[in-house]
Formats: sequence, structure tokens, C-alpha cells
Amino acid sequence: MVKLAPSVIAADFGRLAEQMCAVEHAGADVVHFDAMDGCFVPNLSIGPMVLEAVRRATRLRIDAHLMIEAPERYIDAFAKAGADTIVVHVEATPHLHRAIEQIKHLGKLAGVAVNPGTPAFQLEAILGSVDQVLVMTVNPGFGGQRFIRPMLHKIEAVRRMIGSQAIELCVDGGVDAATARDAVSAGADVLVAGTAVFSHPNGVAAAIAQLRESASKH
Ligand code: DX5
Ligand code: ZN
Repeated sequence: MVKLAPSVIAADFGRLAEQMCAVEHAGADVVHFDAMDGCFVPNLSIGPMVLEAVRRATRLRIDAHLMIEAPERYIDAFAKAGADTIVVHVEATPHLHRAIEQIKHLGKLAGVAVNPGTPAFQLEAILGSVDQVLVMTVNPGFGGQRFIRPMLHKIEAVRRMIGSQAIELCVDGGVDAATARDAVSAGADVLVAGTAVFSHPNGVAAAIAQLRESASKH
């Protein structure tokens, strides 16, 4: 079954714990935690201290998506704060294999993310070392952007590359009831959704149910 991963940065930070409980009770599978440094992406978001608060608020798996230049500097801090998965960008470090090994030595699941402009073949050398591939379907830095539909071909290509390996294919950016089905048809195992969940007019539970229904129609 496809996993749904609400993205924390789209939540109401004035009631973060409450919103984490809401997504957990609504049947979400993962909490997606977007850490942005203002260098790798043109936005500054949340860090390890906020992840500690999220950790206290939910039993769900927390995937920390590090949109951070030289992420090696912060992997230990996110692991200590309670992340279960730590995802670093192919584009963010010349020492990607070392960063992935650092994550695994801390006993965490390791993920690698690719921006829309990065071809799937750049995953070849690292694929056998990771637990998750995160395919960006928006240019990272902000929630609420439109799904970049040509990325569906990249999702299909990554699905072929993964083959029978136990690697999760996660899709992140612009996922909503209209795009969820296509992302799953292309090969997604995990759907990250921020705006579609936390800005849904009928609330979080309705949003999760609608995404679940859309994803099941693939
Ligand atoms: C963008 C982040 C995404 C984003 C998802 O840089 O990595 O996780 O917050 O939010 P929506 O679903 O609104 O695109
Ligand atoms: Zn993300």
C-alpha cells in the first residue's frame, strides 16, 4: 500500500503538536520534515530542535529531508533529534557516499534526493547503498508549488533502476488528489504532501482520505 507522508512545513506552527496528532489519527504513515538552510534552497525553515518537538508529538516514522548544503555537518544532530530516515541531496555534497554511510552508522534509514534538473542516472553509483530515493516534483524550497509533470518519466526511470531492490521510491512536491494517482502509476511508494493535507478546506482527515482514494485508483 502507498504510504502518505504529510510535510510538516505546511502545518500550522502555532499548533504543531495538535496537527501531528491529527495526521497520525487520520492514518498518515510518515511525517516528512523539510529542513532548509537558505543556501541549498532559497528558504530557511526548521531544524533539529523542532524535530525534537515533532518526535514528542507522534509515533510515526519521521523522514528528515535535508535541503542543506554540506549536510554532513547536521546529520548527527537530526539523528539525535529523533529522525528515523535522513535524506540528503545528490546536489548538496561532493561526498555523497560518505554522507550516506554516516547516516547508516547512526542506525538510521538513508535516503538520497534528486532535484528536477538532476537526471536519474546520477543515482546509479549510490542506489545500492540507500533505503529511499526521493524524487523532487517541484524545485525545492517552498510548499504549494505545481507538480512538474515531466518528472513522471523520471519516476518511471527510477522505478526501473530500483528493480527488485528493497528501496522506497518517494515523490515530493505538488502532490494532491489530482497528481497522486499519476505519481503512483509511475512507481511511487511514498507520497509527500504538504499543502494538499494541511490546507485542505475540509481538514486533515478529509485530505488524507482523499489522497488515499486517489492513490488507490492508479
Ligand atoms: C519542498 C519540500 C516539499 C514540500 C511539499 O522543498 O521538499 O516537501 O514542502 O509541499 P507541497 O505538497 O505543498 O508541495
Ligand atoms: Zn520535502
